[in-house]
Parts: sequence; structure tokens; C-alpha cells
Amino acid sequence: MAKPKYMKCAECGHEQEYQLLVPTICNQCKSAWVDAFYDYPLFKREVLRGLPGRVFNLWRYHEVLPINSPAGLELDFVAGGTPLRVPRRYQKKPDRNYQLFIKDERYGTTNSFKDRQAVVSVAAMLEAGIHEAVIASTGNAAVAFAAACARAGIKLWVFMTSLVPPEKLREVALYGAEVVKVSGTYDQAKQIAAEFAKRRDLILDRGARSLPARESMKTIAYEIVEQLGWKSPDWYIQAVSGGLGPLGVFRGFQELFEMGLIDRIPKIGIIQAAGCSPMVQAFKTGSRVAQPVYPMTRIAILSTGDPGQTYSYLWDILHKYGGTMESVEDAEAWATMRDLAKTEGLAVEPAAAVAFSGLEKMVSQGQIQENELVVVNCTGHTFPVEKHVLGDEWGVDIKIDSTKAPMQEGLHAALEYLDERTRTVLIIDDNPDDAQLIRRFLEAKKSYRVFHAKDGWDGLAQARQRLPGLVVLDLTMPEIDGFSVLEELKYDKRTANIPVIVISAKDITSEDRERLNGHITAIYQKGSLPPREFVEQVVEVMEQKNPNKGAS
Ligand SMILES: Cc1ncc(COP(=O)(O)O)c(C=O)c1O
Ligand SMILES: [Zn+2]
Repeated sequence: MAKPKYMKCAECGHEQEYQLLVPTICNQCKSAWVDAFYDYPLFKREVLRGLPGRVFNLWRYHEVLPINSPAGLELDFVAGGTPLRVPRRYQKKPDRNYQLFIKDERYGTTNSFKDRQAVVSVAAMLEAGIHEAVIASTGNAAVAFAAACARAGIKLWVFMTSLVPPEKLREVALYGAEVVKVSGTYDQAKQIAAEFAKRRDLILDRGARSLPARESMKTIAYEIVEQLGWKSPDWYIQAVSGGLGPLGVFRGFQELFEMGLIDRIPKIGIIQAAGCSPMVQAFKTGSRVAQPVYPMTRIAILSTGDPGQTYSYLWDILHKYGGTMESVEDAEAWATMRDLAKTEGLAVEPAAAVAFSGLEKMVSQGQIQENELVVVNCTGHTFPVEKHVLGDEWGVDIKIDSTKAPMQEGLHAALEYLDERTRTVLIIDDNPDDAQLIRRFLEAKKSYRVFHAKDGWDGLAQARQRLPGLVVLDLTMPEIDGFSVLEELKYDKRTANIPVIVISAKDITSEDRERLNGHITAIYQKGSLPPREFVEQVVEVMEQKNPNKGAS
């Protein structure tokens, strides 16, 4: 039996007996911030015996979850038990000196860590005899609740903003939930949902203010610690919207620490999308209270503009146990999303990529110490891969002109166009204006697809991945320069035969020429680049079968 022994209010300190939901509030001050306390010595004995015979899902820790009878639940209402993976190829630079683990929360019924929240909340609803409920969600919680409610036979009303990708809205409807699309912000959708629930006297999911929801998140901490061999990581990093995730996960680490099962509580890294980062803004200005913002991010999943009290609790935790809050731009998240997919075969949604981009930022700022053990919550459901994530050049469209007679002619023209479109040029240049200019020259003449790499590292990664027909390479770039990129391209047998045209802003010395000789097709000076000659040369290279003819 996992009935909590007692409850204690985080606001006024009042202690009271555990009451079966819903919602759990403090009898004295009516606050929803009531924590549950369990029979920890009993649970610890089970842990020390190796939790015998228990399946690897969140009910493995049922002694510390606020559900009375987990028997049977482990069959119908399963969540958690997700892998902790070591990424082998995902690393921005070869000098990664910390240990990265990915808590891969994609392995669940609806592929996000919100499955835990839905499963424990719905189990609690079942225990409390609830048959109808209301939820407002930025997207993934709605999908997770809709699936769990379908299994439980609970009617669910879902309030989402019209900014949520339509595929997600349709997925919720597929599970039989009633979808209410609100043209407004998530915070407004929340208000309408609350009013709707009140009028109909229905239970409203309270997100971070719901005890089963917070308690469900603890199981992420329990699993990580168990998977690391009953050891705590140094950092736990997660993308945040409302903040339920890190708040709940922290409580798990805290309980484990207080039971003496780990020797420290990890620092928490909270990452928000820059366009909706009320927590980060308050944190950076040293305030315990967050000011609501109007969301300006395309990552709708992370668009809680008003985090309320959750932020203040997170502030307290970070100040007591260490940690940080950072924000990243949408475009940074999309770049990381592509990176993770290409290097690890790991498809995540932009919201989850935000956490990895945040880690990259923390690393570049020196916030992660050598050999620290970092766990990133990787969650989210990839569908749909929205167009803006991939940019314009991710695929080739061909149209056959059926007005052309004979038909063969239309087909021939289409194939010719396809031939051009499947030829790719990669420009490696840290100056976006120069890259744009070169792109324009080329696109004026041909339908080649032109890709841009913003520095040498990016260039090497894209060259290996795309195997372009030609590389246009800048010489002077920060970090690794064009000479080193060229060396590496020529060294790697997959890229060794890709012709390279160098475009340089710096004066070319005879020493430089010596280094480049034999490895490049041509060299041009940026200031005096003759567009026509350059484009003709590119076309010549691209149309040749075996174009590597040495330096000019
Ligand atoms: C992938 C992902 N990351 C982060 C979040 C934010 O969660 P929270 O509201 O717990 O901050 C969500 C919410 O659905 C999510 O799906
Ligand atoms: Zn109270």
C-alpha cells in the first residue's frame, strides 16, 4: 500500500492526514502546495533487497507514489521504465570532457515524459471514482492524458491553443477526447478551462499544483539513480514550460538523498525557449518572482507565459542545491534537433532539443565541470516535423508539365530538372552575407541546391552527411580554419574526392598556395570575385563526371 503517511503544506507548514485527491489542498491555508511523506524506511528496505520481482516501470517505486492499489495498474497504466542512453556520436566538438547520459523519455505510450503524469493522475482519478475531467495543455500533456483517459474510460475535455500543431490536436481527438481550440495564449486557454471546469463542477488538472502530477515526475529521478547504480548525477537538465518536470524530479532526488540512497542532490539546469522565458529572465535579474510574458516562440509546447509559484519554488531549490536557468533561440533548438537526428538517429521534438541546446550553451559558458555526469531529459514526440524545422532545401519537388506534347517531353524536362536539383553545393563560410551572395550567383543560373555551413565544424559535419557535389570554402574562419577543413576533407575517404573551390578574403601568400596545391579546383579573392567566371567554373565542375582536376 502506498498511501502517504501524512501531508505537509509547503506554504504554512500545516501537517494533515493524506486524503484521496482531488484536488489535494491544505486544510489550513487552502494552498495546493502540499507534499506527501511516505513510509521511507519500508521502501528503503525493499531497495536494499533489490526491489525483487518488480518490472521496470514507474510502479516499481509504488511505495512512494500516492496511489493505494497499484495491483493491476502496472498492466493497463504503464509509464516510465525508459532507457538511460550514452550518446556516442552526438557531440559538438571532439573535446567533450563531461559524461553525457540521455534519459530517453520517448519510450512511452505517447512518447513524452508527460505519460508519467497522465498515468499516475488517471490512476488517482480512478481511485477517487472520477469519470470526467478537464485539462489545459501546451500539447504533450493533452496527448498523454487523452490516451490514459481512453484506457480508463474517463471522459476528457482538452483545452489547447490554436498555436499547437494541428496534427497534435487531431491526435488528442483520435483518443476520443473533446478538443477545445482556443485562439489565444496558453495562459488564456488555462483560464477558460478552469472556468469551464468550475461551471460544470468537473475536476481540472492543475499541472504542477497537482500532487499526483508532481509525484509522477519523481520516478524519473528514481530511475536515473537506479540506472546509474544508485548514484546521483551532477546535473539534471530539462526544457521547461510550466516547470512541473524539474519540480517533481527534484523531489525524487531529495527523497533519495534523505533516505541515504545517494550522497548528493544534483544541480538542476532549466532551459526555456528565449521567446518565452519568464523564469530565465527573473532568475538572471535575481528575482524570486517571475513576471508573465507574452509567448513569442514557435515552440508552442514551451509557451507557458506565466509560471506563477512554480518558478519561486524552483528558485528556492536552485539557490539551495545549485543549478542554473538558460534560454535558447528557436533556431538553435532546430539546429540541435537536426544534429541529434543525424548523429544519434534520435528524433526529438523542438521542445526536447531546447534542453540539449541549453546544455551546449552551459558547456560553452564553462558551467559544466570536467568529468561531471550530466543527464538530459530527452522527451517528445516528433510528429509533426514542421516545415520551418528543416528549412527550404530538405526535399525535391518535381512537377510534370502534362500540357507538353508529346508526354515524353514533359517527363524529360522533369528529369532534367531533377538531375539539377539533386546536385548540391556546400558553402562553408562564417560570413553569412558572403555565403548569401555566392548562393545568389549560383541560384540565378542553376537549380542546384545550395547549403550553408556557418563554420568549419558545421562544414565538416555537413560535408560528411550530404556528400555534396562541390564545396565552396572560406579560408579565414574562427576555431578551425579553411586549411584544416580542407585537410580533413581530403583525409576522409568519403569526402576526399569532393572538389573544393576556395574563396578567400585574405591575401593568398605563396606559402598558402603551396598548402592548397593539388587539393583544390580553383581559388578566388572575395573582393574581386568575377561572378560569371565563378559560376561557369562551378557549373563545369558540377557537370563533369570526374571533376577533380587540381588547383589552378
Ligand atoms: C518535450 C517537452 N519538454 C518540456 C516540456 C515542459 O514541461 P513542463 O510544463 O513540465 O515545464 C514539455 C511539456 O509538454 C514537453 O513536452
Ligand atoms: Zn497551508
